[in-house]
Amino acid sequence: MARKKIALIGAGNIGGTLAHLAAAKELGDVVLLDVAEGIPQGKALDLSQCGPVEGFDSAVTGSNDYAAIEGADVIIVTAGVARKPGMSRDDLLGINLKVMKAVGEGIKQYAPNAFVICITNPLDAMVWALREFSGLPHNMVVGMAGVLDSARFRTFLAQEFNVSVRDVTAFVLGGHGDTMVPVVEYSTVAGIPIPDLIEMGWSTKERIDAIVQRTRSGGGEIVGLLKTGSAFYAPATSAIEMAQAYLGNQKRLLPCAVNLNGEYGVDNLYVGVPVILGAGGVEKIVEIKLNDEAKANFQLSVDAVKELLVACKGIEPSLA
Ligand code: APR
Repeated sequence: MARKKIALIGAGNIGGTLAHLAAAKELGDVVLLDVAEGIPQGKALDLSQCGPVEGFDSAVTGSNDYAAIEGADVIIVTAGVARKPGMSRDDLLGINLKVMKAVGEGIKQYAPNAFVICITNPLDAMVWALREFSGLPHNMVVGMAGVLDSARFRTFLAQEFNVSVRDVTAFVLGGHGDTMVPVVEYSTVAGIPIPDLIEMGWSTKERIDAIVQRTRSGGGEIVGLLKTGSAFYAPATSAIEMAQAYLGNQKRLLPCAVNLNGEYGVDNLYVGVPVILGAGGVEKIVEIKLNDEAKANFQLSVDAVKELLVACKGIEPSLA
């Protein structure tokens, strides 16, 4: 059987880490694509030389030409720029929107049957725009945020309870950013919900509230430490988990940014909700019951995403 093809658009910090993970796990042959000349080629050459040591046969190549992604099975998009000091949110939106246009058109031309995972920020708006520009079916274009946000929540909860991260499940809904909604009632240690653990004296509401807040600003905390970039290890591994769910038809239930069509009372908007990922891409959107507080927070999240889409449509009239 021919090997799968994994195309990574953007060969920066996340793109390079994705390439290493995809090759080491032998998800398929890996193509790195970037506008920067030499970067995807150089990283690909370096990574391919990991093969003999780590024992993988995946080919890793780099290119500046979209023809290289032809026939890709999975595409993970990290192309774009990060917000720099002095840059407004709309400036960033304008720049990355142009990048999504180029990427979407490249995907449409060379890999219209791919499963596409977008990571570029502002995530919920960029994944929506990428879907619009690519014209792919909605079930084949998703945004990676929830897996990362819940991984952050799980990490902090495991530290709080002094238990293995493997026994902590967590749920995070809504947009990626300050308005995300970590749902405490659906977060557990081996099935025991957090509110029960509070009653059992394992923690307090105040401490859990602080963890929720830390999760919401989890990306910013890392930017503050790194100073010259944003998180890349956990974002990359989170997207790889989603790619594996698709490639292996695993039917994983994962929080992803997907297009809602009436679910949760939202229409034609990408926002983070639990979904089943399998060979059909987004196979099912799972509507869980939310308490009033989570509902109100989810609505705030939805409103924030809506506002971004209005700004996108103002910048790029073809989206209106
Ligand atoms: N086409 C292809 N690649 C592009 C384009 C484009 N039009 N524009 C920029 N790039 C490339 C850059 O050359 C760079 O190599 O995208 C890459 C981005 O890499 P980094 O700056 O290292 O950013 P990274 O940390 O990988 O994050 C990428 O994910 O989490 C989000 O906010 C983050 O939007 C950012 C994205």
